Amino acid sequence: MMNGLRKLFGSKPSGQGVPEELPGAAMVREQIASRGITDERVLSIMARLDRRLFVAGQYRESAFNDAPLPTHGGQTISQPYIVAAMTEYLEAAAHHRVLEIGTGTGYQTAILAELVREVITVERDPVLARESAERLRQLGYSNVRCVAGDGFHGWPGDAPYDRILLTAAPVRVSPRLLDQLAPDGIAVAPEGAVLSDSSHDACQKLRRWRRTAQGLSVEDLINVRFVPLVEGSED
Ligand SMILES: C[S@@+](CC[C@H](N)C(=O)[O-])C[C@H]1O[C@@H](n2cnc3c(N)ncnc32)[C@H](O)[C@@H]1O
Repeated sequence: MMNGLRKLFGSKPSGQGVPEELPGAAMVREQIASRGITDERVLSIMARLDRRLFVAGQYRESAFNDAPLPTHGGQTISQPYIVAAMTEYLEAAAHHRVLEIGTGTGYQTAILAELVREVITVERDPVLARESAERLRQLGYSNVRCVAGDGFHGWPGDAPYDRILLTAAPVRVSPRLLDQLAPDGIAVAPEGAVLSDSSHDACQKLRRWRRTAQGLSVEDLINVRFVPLVEGSED
């Protein structure tokens, strides 16, 4: 599994060469590389980016845990492995413009911003939108445009996009959103009903759409459990 990590961090096997001083080193080694994520850009960024900067004070000690954590208004910052997997599935390149729906804390946004030319990110909760925009500005991500609003049907004003990522789950992804994919574009999104808190089964699928000359293809990736993509703005 670990060719990417070996190239980045030295020749030791199984991620043992990740420099311990990087804030996310153990998280990357134990939760992400160990589960088969091999994109060395993703591994490098997530080892370096301090996830504690994206969570509220009472969750800082848990920031590198193998779990989602609560944010404002009953929302979550996703499990690190899921963030890594979604980023790898997106096949992002340096020249891409990316639309992200569901900014949340801005953690996933920051990772995307390190990979691509421009990120347009939309968040419907005005508090999260304001806080993440300020956080990303302070961290120096000048290639991110934060939008407070409803991204249920995408953000058509700036379309088309090379890549689209949804970080919350609609029952079905809006066809209007998929229409905003550029030729050769890829969208990654969780899709499916949201379960009650008492259930531990995942009944959502992470799916990937590709726009080709023949049309739009879709494939199932992994089972996931996301908060719902809610239609309509809070403002
Ligand atoms: C799982 S959280 C995203 C976590 C984020 N990736 C992070 O790193 O913190 C999903 C986010 O989607 C937002 N959301 C839900 N429906 C939305 C919509 N229609 N438009 C924009 N954002 C939406 C929620 O408010 C929530 O912040």
